[in-house]
Amino acid sequence: MSKALTPEAIEVLGTVSLRCVECSALYAGIEAGWKPRYRCDCGGVLDMEMKSNLLKPQGTSSTSTAGTIDVFSSFEPDSDLVPPAGAILRQLFDERAATPPIWSISADSMLLDYSGVWRYRELILPVPEQYIVSRPEGNTGLYPVGMENCGNGRSGQRQIGLYAGLERLFLKHEGENPTGSFKDRGMTVGVTMANLLGAQAVACASTGNTSASLASYAAQAGMRSIVFLPAGNVSAGKLAQTLAYGATTIQIDGDFDDAMHLVEKVCEELGIYLLNSLNPYRIEGQKAIGFEILQQLDWQAPDWLVLPAGNLGNTSAIGKAFRQAYQLSLISHMPRFASIQAAGANPFYRSFMQGFARQEQVHAHTIASAIKIGNPVSYTRARRVIEESDGIVEEVSDEEILAAKTVIDRSGLGCEPASAATLAGIRKLVERGVIKRDERVVGVLTGNLLKDSHTGIPVGSQFDAPVVEASIEAVRKVLSQ
Ligand code: F0G
Repeated sequence: MSKALTPEAIEVLGTVSLRCVECSALYAGIEAGWKPRYRCDCGGVLDMEMKSNLLKPQGTSSTSTAGTIDVFSSFEPDSDLVPPAGAILRQLFDERAATPPIWSISADSMLLDYSGVWRYRELILPVPEQYIVSRPEGNTGLYPVGMENCGNGRSGQRQIGLYAGLERLFLKHEGENPTGSFKDRGMTVGVTMANLLGAQAVACASTGNTSASLASYAAQAGMRSIVFLPAGNVSAGKLAQTLAYGATTIQIDGDFDDAMHLVEKVCEELGIYLLNSLNPYRIEGQKAIGFEILQQLDWQAPDWLVLPAGNLGNTSAIGKAFRQAYQLSLISHMPRFASIQAAGANPFYRSFMQGFARQEQVHAHTIASAIKIGNPVSYTRARRVIEESDGIVEEVSDEEILAAKTVIDRSGLGCEPASAATLAGIRKLVERGVIKRDERVVGVLTGNLLKDSHTGIPVGSQFDAPVVEASIEAVRKVLSQ
């Protein structure tokens, strides 16, 4: 980590503070020695808070930071005419989303408006533009696939709604991000912070998607990336990406939880910037999944938000986004959250079933390698989301995951195995009567089909299809089978 911070870095860090999610201790964004802090002295993980008054229902003025827009500066404090903060932000975000970038005259600020993360920068992190490392990311599809809300031209996708048993179901496909998973949303903010701090090297432990994303964003910023992977438990596609983007890749003899434990120590010892979702700035970026869903739904919150759960960063981040949107009156109610775990990697589910009396750990086993995690780092953050949204944690078997994946794949959307836990969980919760058939549900698909091109690809498809002679007769024979 470089010793001298730039004046911009000092200013940005001066606008945020970090609160322990366990004991509520508050730390300055910047501390003596300028050493990054990822945990409280009590061991709890930290949540970023902005010092501006943006999250008050009636906006007055936000702390001004170089290069950022003070959206409330034109309104008088305490005036009856002050529109709610949510209305101002909504207008701003909608204007930015409506303006496509014109490449021949593009400036960095246009690219930021086009990013599905930095478009919401007032609610993410106030950073001067020149430090931002963005592809840009986000702008992923929200697919209406319910029995009622799926259009006639997409009857194949309506099969998903039929399988789920829901009239109004949307799937948010985060596999459409630049490196093929939702991780890019947190990574653009994490690597931007690394850039601002002058970090030379960044590191993470990963089941494959975080490492691919980190490697890509670090390469873009000209930083060294070092990733710790559980040997034999990362799909070939993710490993190939990570290596191709140039990360120093260390496969360890252990599982993800061992790798996570190790990377924290390595970063502390060697002064490398840690970019797992333990890093509070990663969570800020991942909030943008929630903001983008809301914007695509014209700021009408769904009844349910369903997503796969491993290390619990995503549950924490999307939950925080909806909480903030609610505080800002951007939406009128919080959706209920359903976090879905693989039955063999279900510590959060076990805790939930005991009313969160204690934090459980398991030795994880599941075919969905992305969520093969036994000791999730963001447990407390995610627990808060489930509790305050009157949410639920469900588990699904590997068979249920693979069956749901086949339905998603055959609809033409496709996803990696962990993502299919979302649909498997929705189906189970509808069958149990927890989610009502007419409720409006958004499910998150977290990763692209090509991330794992072997697991769950049905027998009889491309890999073992017979090679036939190049003749009409041979084709006729195949098609008649
Ligand atoms: N889905 C996919 C495709 C993932 O890669 C992950 C996590 C999750 C769901 C679970 O999200 O951890 O926020 O609860 N992958 C991490 C990684 C652990 O290293 O790529 P979470």
